[in-house]
Amino acid sequence: MLTDARRAVPYAVDVPDRIAKQRYYDADFYALEAERLWPRVWQMACRLEEIPEPRDYVEYEILDQSIVVVRTDDMGVRAFQNSCRHRGVKIVEGRGTCRSGFVCPFHGWCYGADGANTFVPRARTFAEHNLAAGDIDLVPVRCETWGGCAWINLDDTAPPLRESLEPAATILDAWKVESLRTERWYACRLPVNWKLAIEAFVESYHVVQTHPQLVIPTRYGLRDGAPFDARAFVDADIRYLRAMCDGMDGMVHADDVRIAEGLRDVELPAEPEAARAAWNRMLNEAVTAWHRERGDDMPDLNRLAAQGVQLEFFQCFPHWFVLPMYSSASSYRFRPLGPEETLMELWSLARVPEETETLRPAPPELWECDDPRWPPIPAQDFSNLPRQQKGLHARGFEYMRLSAGMEGHVSNFERTIDGFLAGLPHDALAGALHAVNVYPFDRPVADLGI
Ligand code: FES
Ligand SMILES: [Fe+2]
Repeated sequence: MLTDARRAVPYAVDVPDRIAKQRYYDADFYALEAERLWPRVWQMACRLEEIPEPRDYVEYEILDQSIVVVRTDDMGVRAFQNSCRHRGVKIVEGRGTCRSGFVCPFHGWCYGADGANTFVPRARTFAEHNLAAGDIDLVPVRCETWGGCAWINLDDTAPPLRESLEPAATILDAWKVESLRTERWYACRLPVNWKLAIEAFVESYHVVQTHPQLVIPTRYGLRDGAPFDARAFVDADIRYLRAMCDGMDGMVHADDVRIAEGLRDVELPAEPEAARAAWNRMLNEAVTAWHRERGDDMPDLNRLAAQGVQLEFFQCFPHWFVLPMYSSASSYRFRPLGPEETLMELWSLARVPEETETLRPAPPELWECDDPRWPPIPAQDFSNLPRQQKGLHARGFEYMRLSAGMEGHVSNFERTIDGFLAGLPHDALAGALHAVNVYPFDRPVADLGI
């Protein structure tokens, strides 16, 4: 049921398993998101290895806002609006190291890495009111670090970062997500709305049709009526892991696939459930031991499993994902470039020995979504998206018809957005955020309390 506040939002989700098509292309809806959603949410602005040393900085852009994220000498990671206090020129473009602070390229106003104004050329030519102390420092933006990333929020009244990321934050901390480092980094321009792009990755309903190579019949050890064959089960699981690794070392890292291959000849119980449990235990143990021996900061996967920690796939509302498997993860970030255009980034994150020097990852080249260099799994997901964006415009198509059992996350996500668009206060939105920041696959439609 729609509350009064949500009813005022155009194209609001009324029937939870029906999502109006206009939400994915209407220019006014997009403008409302720009006004009421993006300025109020925590956003993953950069990976910390992009700014490994003091004075390293990186620019984060979201819609028409540009923010500088910088590692200071002794005040941790800070963020500022990327705009000179003189006449508004962007202080930085891209990334770099501000060894002697930031210098505006137009007239040379200078700022420290802490954002404080340090020099105004010909200061005596300005009236006092234009040089008031504090007023000419770069405007700070809230910035916190978690999970190996720096996060920004343009809303000074938003709750702290960690609170906004639960329950994903606690689960991913137990898995030591902060110890991962960028191994590969890709970027894709998708000719679709940012929400449509996200929603291609939050249910397993599409897997059979879109990713047939991931459907391996004997992976569950059973062939039509035939007796359980543990050997066929192990072979099938290894094939699955290889397919998940193919071309990008994510979601499963090649090291972990090799570890699984080394276990191929283990003895397993004859009973399917017991065999599956024994295989999972052995693989978890072998992966944990291999990485610890190499000096990685690696959690004990079997201990996490015993605690009931399900490591699969997490959304951190609104636009960052991490998909952990064994030691490594894939990670995604989606940013709107227009009502029907999205920048999607994909990282393959891996563990490294603790003493490894952190190298700044090279920013990715922007590939089109049909670029032949995409590994098979993202290529398959991308192949549907432009067709879906076009198909939504069909005159006879009114709304998406979701499976309330398997695609409930799409509804939970969209209704949480409605909560922001309705201008609900942060405390009223906390429950909805927590319902979205979870393993999204196959979730039912949830009562979000908004
Ligand atoms: S706009 Fe930056 S110094 Fe003039
Ligand atoms: Fe997919």
